[in-house]
Amino acid sequence: MLRQEQNDLLTQTGPGTPMGKLFRRNWIPALLAEELPENDCPPVRVTLLSERLLAVRDSQGRYGLIDEFCAHRGVSLWYGRNEENGIRCPYHGWKYDVEGRCVEVPSEPPETGFCDRIRLTNYPLVELGGILWAYMGAPDRRPALPEWEFARVPQSQSYTSKRLQECNWLQAMEGGIDSSHVSWLHRGNLNSDPLFKGAKGNQYNLSDTKPIFDVVEAEGGLFIGARRNAEDGNYYWRITPWVMPSFTMVPPRGDHPVHGHFWIPIDDHNCWAWSFDYHPVRDLTPTELQAMKDGKGVHVRYVPGTYRPLANKDNDYLIDRAAQKAGHSYSGVEGIGMQDASLQESMGPIADRTRENLTSTDNGIVMARMRLMKAARMLDEKGIDPPGVLPEHQRVRSAAVILPPTKPFAEAARDALRVREGVPQSSV
Ligand code: FES
Ligand SMILES: [Fe+2]
Repeated sequence: MLRQEQNDLLTQTGPGTPMGKLFRRNWIPALLAEELPENDCPPVRVTLLSERLLAVRDSQGRYGLIDEFCAHRGVSLWYGRNEENGIRCPYHGWKYDVEGRCVEVPSEPPETGFCDRIRLTNYPLVELGGILWAYMGAPDRRPALPEWEFARVPQSQSYTSKRLQECNWLQAMEGGIDSSHVSWLHRGNLNSDPLFKGAKGNQYNLSDTKPIFDVVEAEGGLFIGARRNAEDGNYYWRITPWVMPSFTMVPPRGDHPVHGHFWIPIDDHNCWAWSFDYHPVRDLTPTELQAMKDGKGVHVRYVPGTYRPLANKDNDYLIDRAAQKAGHSYSGVEGIGMQDASLQESMGPIADRTRENLTSTDNGIVMARMRLMKAARMLDEKGIDPPGVLPEHQRVRSAAVILPPTKPFAEAARDALRVREGVPQSSV
C-alpha cells in the first residue's frame, strides 16, 4: 500500500516531475525503425513523457525528435512537407532541420538573423536493433547508447513489437515483475502457445502454484527469484531481472527465444508496452518469427494500420466466456500479452495503491517501488544518477534454473544472470 503522494510520485512522468526526470536520464525506445522507413518519409507524431513531439527522417537519413508545433503560430508540423533536409510548415513556410533549428523564415531577409534565434525543443533519436531510441534529458549528461542484449545481437536473432496500453506505466511494469500470476492467468497458454510450449519448466509452473519469492538488489535494480518445487527436494527458480525504470525480462523456457518488456509512458494514463523476443546465440526460426508476427507469445494482433491491440477495452478484449469455462484460457482473453493488458487496464488509468492489500508474492513490486522512489528523490534533490543508466547495469539476463535447496539463487546463478557472448541462456 502506498500513500497518495507516493503513488503520485511514482506515476507522474511529465516535464519537471521527479519520475519524469528519472525517465529522462535514460535512452528510451520511442519508435520502431519501420515507422520511419525511408528518407523524407512522412513524419510520425510521438507523445512521450507527456510531451508532444514529431519524429522526422530527413533527406540524408538523419533522425530527430522535435517539438510537434511550429514556433511561428503553433501549427502541427505533422502536416508539414518533409523536403530537402528539413520539415517545412505548410502554413507560412518556416523550415526546421531534424535538430529543431529554424533554417528558413521566408518572410524575413536572412541578414536580420531572425531565423537563427528560433529553435524548437529537440532530442536525439538513434537507431539501434531496429528501434529508434530517444534521449530526452540534459544534452550535457547524455549517457552511452543502450547495451540491452536484445538490441545488440544480430537482427536475425531478435524481434521487437510495441502495443498501446491504455493505463499508467507503473501498473503495467508491476505485472512484469509479478511472476506469481503466470501459474494462474497464463496457465492455459504454457502448453499451447508455440513460443512457450514443450519446456520442462512449464510443468513446475503448473504443478506448484504457490511460489516463494526471494528478491535481491542488483546494480541496476532487482533480481526477483520465484522458487517452485522440483524433483528430489530441489527448487525450480525463475529469475526476473528488473532494471530501472522499466525494463524486465521474463525467465526463459527450454530453447525458446527469451522475451521481455519496456513500459514507456506516453502520458500518465497511457504507455507503450514494448515486447522483445531474442535468442542469444542463434537466429530465430521462420516458424518462431511468424508466430511473433501473428501475435503469439508476448506479442499481439493489431487494429489494422495502428499499434492498438485488436482486442482492447472497447470490445472487452474479445473475452470468450466459453473458453474461460472450458479452461482453454484462464481468463477467456486470448494471448499472453492481452491477458496481462486487459487486467492491468481494468485497474483504471492509474491504479489506486492506497487501497491494495499486498502479500509476500508482491515483494518484488514493493522493493521496486521503494528503489524507484529513492532514486527519483536522489536525482531530483541531489542530481545523483539513478541505477540503470550505466551500460553495465543493462547487460543482464533472465534465467530459469534448478538448484539444490541450500544454494541462494543470487550466488548460484550469478553467471546465468549476466550477458555472456556466445553462451546460450540458462533455461529449463
Ligand atoms: S504557423 Fe508555421 S509557418 Fe506560420
Ligand atoms: Fe503476464
